[in-house]
Amino acid sequence: MSIRLGDEAPNFTAETTEGTIDFYDWKAGHWAVLFSHPADFTPVCTTELGRTAALKSDFEKRNVKAIAVSVDPVESHRGWAPDIAEVGGTELNFPIIADSDRKVSQLYDMIHPGEGDTSTVRSVFIIDPKNKVRLTLTYPKSVGRNFTEIVRVIDALQLTDAAPVSTPVDWTPGDRIIVSPAMSTDDARQRFEDVEEVRPYLRWARQPVS
Ligand code: BEZ
Repeated sequence: MSIRLGDEAPNFTAETTEGTIDFYDWKAGHWAVLFSHPADFTPVCTTELGRTAALKSDFEKRNVKAIAVSVDPVESHRGWAPDIAEVGGTELNFPIIADSDRKVSQLYDMIHPGEGDTSTVRSVFIIDPKNKVRLTLTYPKSVGRNFTEIVRVIDALQLTDAAPVSTPVDWTPGDRIIVSPAMSTDDARQRFEDVEEVRPYLRWARQPVS
């Protein structure tokens, strides 16, 4: 099943390194980063899961919970955890789903047979507190993901949910934002700071610091 932006993220029950979870119950009220990796005890995956553990406080500040998935069994995930801790410098502090029956992987279309075998590729789903899918990324097995980008996108999603704005190319927090085309420049000047009209459809602005 292919999952599109705005779709309801499918719920599931799964065995994880932190016991059996119901996904919706586990994430209740939070954003979630659900991401797959091809296999345990592999180099790129070890760096990615180590980085995710190190980002725990950055995720918490943003009301985000991370959860990984691969088709390896839970004993394998548990055996791998010390390597993740050593490489990432932080104990494994988020659940890894043991998807041996490929239930979650198939639900989220994480297995792409053209990529070699029936393990999962590097998929990422960012899911909001209402269980809507807000971002998808799919990387090949040989290319590690950029978790700084994942945090940046969460910042952008939370910002653009809260105000009539968009984020421009290469935006990072603190940069100028773009005023929504639905808002007049006069209204934008009331709401934002340093409004600059470059084109009638392109207005830069700064959000007032609250
Ligand atoms: C890795 O994590 O290093 C990896 C896993 C599967 C295929 C290629 C690389």
